[in-house]
Amino acid sequence: MKFFIDTADTDQIRHAAAIGVLDGVTTNPSLIAKSGRRFKDVIVEICELVDGPVSAEVTALETEAMLDEGREYASWADNVIIKLPLTPDGLKACKTLSDEGVGTNVTLCFSTNQALLAARAGASYISPFIGRLDDLGHEGMDVIAEIVGAYENYPDIDTEVLVASIRHPRHVTEAALLGADVATVPPAVIDKMFKHPMTDIGLEKFLADWENVPSSE
Ligand code: E4P
Repeated sequence: MKFFIDTADTDQIRHAAAIGVLDGVTTNPSLIAKSGRRFKDVIVEICELVDGPVSAEVTALETEAMLDEGREYASWADNVIIKLPLTPDGLKACKTLSDEGVGTNVTLCFSTNQALLAARAGASYISPFIGRLDDLGHEGMDVIAEIVGAYENYPDIDTEVLVASIRHPRHVTEAALLGADVATVPPAVIDKMFKHPMTDIGLEKFLADWENVPSSE
C-alpha cells in the first residue's frame, strides 16, 4: 500500500519525505487555511518536496469554473493532481480533465455507488472518508471493503482507492488488509505507526547490554 500524507504543513511533509516513506500528499481547503499561507505557494513548495502526486482541491462548484481552476493548478507543477468533489459537476470536470491527461482525485466520497460513478468519470483516485463515517456511527471501513470488492469485479477500472479521513493507526492496518491502494495519513498518525513500546524497551536493553561488550582493543 502506498502512503500519502494528509497535511499542508511543509515542515511535516519534509520530515516524512526525509524518512523515505512518502508516496504523495493530499491537501484540502481546510488544511490550506490552517497553514496560513497562500494556496499556490504551499502547493508549489510541496511539489518540490515530494515526487508523487500532490492533490490541490478546486473550490468552484460549477464544471467550467472547476476546469479553469484545475487547469491552472495543473500548470503549477508536473505532479499536481486535481481534487474534485463528488457532485455531478465535479465528475463532469473529472472526465474532461482525465481526457486531457490531468490526474484527478475525487473527494468527499461516502458510498460505493459514488465510487462507481467516479470510476466511470475516469478518476485517478477515489477518496472515501472513513473517519467522518465513523463519526456518524457507521463503520467507515465497510465502505472501503465494498469499493475494493466492487472495483475488483471490473478489471478495466484503473481508479485507485485512496483511504481518507484516517483517525488512528488501526484504520491504516485495516485499509491494507482490505487491499486499498493508498492511505492518506495525518502526520500524528504516521508518528504513532512507528511506535511500539516493545521496540523502545528492546532498543534500551540492546544498548545497555552493548555497554558490557569488551572493546576490540
Ligand atoms: C483527504 O483527502 C482529506 O483531506 C482528509 O483525509 C479529510 O480528513 P478529515 O475528515 O480528518 O478532515
